[in-house]
Amino acid sequence: PKIHVFDHPLIQHKMTYIRDTNTGTKEFRELVDEVATLMAYEITRDLPLKEVSVETPVCTAKTNILAGKKLGIVPILRAGIGMVDGILKLIPAAKVGHVGLFRDPKTLQPVEYFVKLPSDVSERDFILVDPMLATGGTAIAAADSLKSRGAKNIKFMCLIAAPEGVKAMTEAHPDVDIYIAGLDEKLDEKGYIVPGLGDAGDRLFG
Ligand code: PRP
Repeated sequence: PKIHVFDHPLIQHKMTYIRDTNTGTKEFRELVDEVATLMAYEITRDLPLKEVSVETPVCTAKTNILAGKKLGIVPILRAGIGMVDGILKLIPAAKVGHVGLFRDPKTLQPVEYFVKLPSDVSERDFILVDPMLATGGTAIAAADSLKSRGAKNIKFMCLIAAPEGVKAMTEAHPDVDIYIAGLDEKLDEKGYIVPGLGDAGDRLFG
């Protein structure tokens, strides 16, 4: 699988303020939204085009428009929700599915509590979205869930990832390319990403 770590200056700049513990909820939400838009710009780079003709004020021009590939965005609840609007700004015709997962406090295994996907799952390409890839358990379970319902083409997009999570995800789902705004050092003993940004769900929603 391909691992894309975005090095765009605007993404790096905004990620600095996302990481900063002194950034409040309002600004944090705005920054996550903006980085999601910038990442969507990169992640849609391979969308297929078709040639069309258009009348300019000067002449007929041969040019391109999107070939109309069906896309689906799937945030992992809760924190993934914070990235959806930013992506929809660039691909407003995409459908949005939802997958809810929590970590069992005892076993630390992800437990699925909600799944609702667009009806034509097998015809869509999906962008699975979660701000954080820590141990990878959640993202792996979410991709399992999409695949079990017929999804064939999935990309995973996150703000920050730990190397442990990237390894686990690529081993479990070698067909899923991963798009990361910031690749961090490690996980701590509690499974938090270091240096990370804290708990994205709490910082977005409280
Ligand atoms: C966070 C994060 C991911 C998950 C990553 O969610 O948003 O979903 O943890 O951890 P993992 O890679 O080790 O599975 P959290 O459990 O805090 O839930 P929330 O989004 O509802 O706050």
